[in-house]
Amino acid sequence: MADLLLGQVLSFTADPFVEGPSAARHISEGAVLVEHGRIAAVGEAAALKAAHPQAQRHDYGRALISAGFVDAHVHYPQTAMIASWGKRLIDWLNGYTFPEEMRFTDPSYAIEIAERYLDLTLSHGTTSFCTYATIHPGSVDAIFGAAQKRGQRIYAGKTCMDRNAPEGLRDTAQSAYDDSKALLQKWHGVDRLSYVITPRFSPTSTPEQLAAMGQLWREHPDCLMQTHLSEQTDEIAWVKDLFPQSRDYLDTYEAQGLLREGALYGHAIHLTEREKSRLIEAGASLVHCPTSNTFIGSGLFDMGLARQLRVGLATDTGGGSSFSMLHTMAAAYEIAQLRGEALHPAQLWWLATQGSARALHAEHQIGNIAAGMEADLVVVDLASTFGIEQATRRASNLWEQLFPTIMMGDDRAIHEVWIGGKKQARS
Ligand code: GUN
Ligand code: ZN
Repeated sequence: MADLLLGQVLSFTADPFVEGPSAARHISEGAVLVEHGRIAAVGEAAALKAAHPQAQRHDYGRALISAGFVDAHVHYPQTAMIASWGKRLIDWLNGYTFPEEMRFTDPSYAIEIAERYLDLTLSHGTTSFCTYATIHPGSVDAIFGAAQKRGQRIYAGKTCMDRNAPEGLRDTAQSAYDDSKALLQKWHGVDRLSYVITPRFSPTSTPEQLAAMGQLWREHPDCLMQTHLSEQTDEIAWVKDLFPQSRDYLDTYEAQGLLREGALYGHAIHLTEREKSRLIEAGASLVHCPTSNTFIGSGLFDMGLARQLRVGLATDTGGGSSFSMLHTMAAAYEIAQLRGEALHPAQLWWLATQGSARALHAEHQIGNIAAGMEADLVVVDLASTFGIEQATRRASNLWEQLFPTIMMGDDRAIHEVWIGGKKQARS
């Protein structure tokens, strides 16, 4: 049985950081045909209605049908401690994050938070994400198990830390390798799930542990690898003390085989020229986490890099202050403004969908509306509050209609979500 979704349709035929806004394709009276979990066709409503009279119709009026949001860097175990007050990175990790992650020793707590996180992301229109778990293998089982039940494409890995973390939240180089490998073999490529090799960051891994992760990655080269890079200046100074032999922060990863295509570096704010050119040369992905960068006081990401390598967009739950990719786009806009660049709404929307998918090397599967792609879709109400509705009354094109929702929208703008071709129940 086919479904035909009717509304305004936004998709991309190119990268708006290269092509500008003409990279977007907007069909004002459009339709998306969904069959067997995939997008079968996209086009004008009249033509698709005539060609598929048997398809079940879902008329969303003037709402916008888009690919579901893709959040390229989150810590689902930090769901319950999001918006904790007043600390910078290292104190924030020690004071809030590590005590919360300790609770994941209990697998039933991990399952409770995994389900809660999936409910929250669903209500915000996020259909795929790439998450850190905790050091506990059960925390990986919890998020993969929950996402598998819901048919979601997600990316996750066991966070590895063998120093500078409290007792109970440390593994070793060997156990990190063994546990990561067992989880990878259990989950990677099962249904829509992908395992991601996950050393937390250089301050919490010995060179031996980073080398073990490099070894595992060489054995499983089709996996992604995620970690953090140059988020705060204090952190960079600490890395310099811990790795006196390294040229810079990136070199602590590079020296252990943790720099190549498929590497995802969260934050990447305070980069040296050598680091930038090596990241570009290696074809790595950077993930911009704007609400986190303002909330923890980290700094201003250079979005100019999006013209040189893969850049994804992310909430960084719970260092970030929101589950919403709309809020995250707004924060990315504001950070770019502070650096003197006005990101176009097409660029913001692309970052939250196809840009993040491309950072995850999944742009052929998720993050866009095109025939053959997986049917993860969000239907966005472009007049979800009085404040937004009144700001769009004189809009003369899609971007003027959409930008107030980017800047002021939240979960109230998410009218419907489809995952793997199935309409999701509203909670
Ligand atoms: N650096 C290492 N771990 C973390 C984390 O959990 N959140 C953020 N924002 N930065 C980190
Ligand atoms: Zn992070």
